[in-house]
Amino acid sequence: MKILVTGGAGFIGSNFIRLILEKYGDYEVVNLDKLTYAGNLDNLRDVEKDERYRFVQGDICDPQVVDKVMNGVDAVVNFAAESHVDRSIGGPADFIHTDVYGTYVLLEAARQHGVGRYLQISTDEVYGSIRDGSFSETDILDPSSPYSASKAGGDMQVMAYHTTFGLPTLITRSSNNFGPYQHVEKLIPLFITNAMEERELPLYGDGTNVRDWIYVTDNCEGIDAVLHEGEVGRIYNIGGGNERDNITITRMILEILGKPESLIKRVSDRLGHDFRYSIDCSRARALGWSPAHDFESALRETVQWYVDNRWWWEKQKGEEFQEYYKQQYEGKSE
Ligand code: NAD
Ligand code: DAU
Repeated sequence: MKILVTGGAGFIGSNFIRLILEKYGDYEVVNLDKLTYAGNLDNLRDVEKDERYRFVQGDICDPQVVDKVMNGVDAVVNFAAESHVDRSIGGPADFIHTDVYGTYVLLEAARQHGVGRYLQISTDEVYGSIRDGSFSETDILDPSSPYSASKAGGDMQVMAYHTTFGLPTLITRSSNNFGPYQHVEKLIPLFITNAMEERELPLYGDGTNVRDWIYVTDNCEGIDAVLHEGEVGRIYNIGGGNERDNITITRMILEILGKPESLIKRVSDRLGHDFRYSIDCSRARALGWSPAHDFESALRETVQWYVDNRWWWEKQKGEEFQEYYKQQYEGKSE
């Protein structure tokens, strides 16, 4: 089987490529990635010499590039996206372009090439916030941020290509991932690395917002199950079943690193900040998938990974990131 993975130089995509190459000795993977600020070939150093793996730098919004890499492909897994909510609030245009238009370009090429399976990597954020209970795949979409609205737009295109053209599509909607190779802009890596540097941890609002955390390889196993066993035209929620509020996560990180709680700095809340995400994953579990990692030990391992791999994240926290950080957090204390 030859799989086109888009956005494979990012956090989840790189973990997925590693998993596929390890698990299936006869699979080939082509990784199409634009290498935006979030794309990082360091994430795949250990597989770059594997003969079954090929990297192509290119944009999913470019129909010519996409047409070329789609040749002879059996399945497409689309991870490529602008993925950070805060950046979408600062500037939505790139999100709409990549997450909606880029998805359309991939779908159209998949249709032209008669690709056997097209899997779109989506998010639980498309359902919006929920106070009690959990969303199932048939619930309506109610996205809050330009990011989640763009992801919802991508999902709609995927569903339309299935209904109208019979393209064999699948969608996964996962909860918050954590683990090795996650960009330092996101909550867990930002707070681990800031704490290691004795810098403040900018916690939004009162820290009571709840996310459901899933270890990244558990999500990748779920994506693999859906790719191979999922029913075309269907959507599958993939969650870790680990709902925690942000202040709890923050305290756990500080406790693991032996750092003081005085590093926590309350900053003004994210605009449109969703209070809680929660998804019902019984459909994915019916495929035989379930998350394998215990949250507390996986968080410890993740912290240890950032401790052991300073070389990886120190580069990411360079000048460009510091500029973003200043704009995002300076003068925002509560
Ligand atoms: P990421 O930001 O770490 O990686 C995104 C990758 O896409 C980068 O390598 C980037 O270079 C690439 N990319 C961006 N625009 C592109 C374009 N136009 N053409 C080609 N490549 C492009 O993101 P992630 O956290 O790994 O998320 C991957 C996918 O999973 C995204 O679609 C995201 O919406 C979804 N998702 C993420 C999470 C999470 O917790 N991280 C949870 C649910 C869903
Ligand atoms: O739910 C899935 C989504 O999870 C994915 O679709 C997104 O791509 C991914 O980025 C993530 O979105 P979140 O907004 O939930 O993740 P983030 O790490 O940005 O924030 C997690 C929580 O922590 C959220 O409630 C906001 C809060 N937060 C975040 C940052 C970066 C802070 O309090 N301070 C911060 O500095």
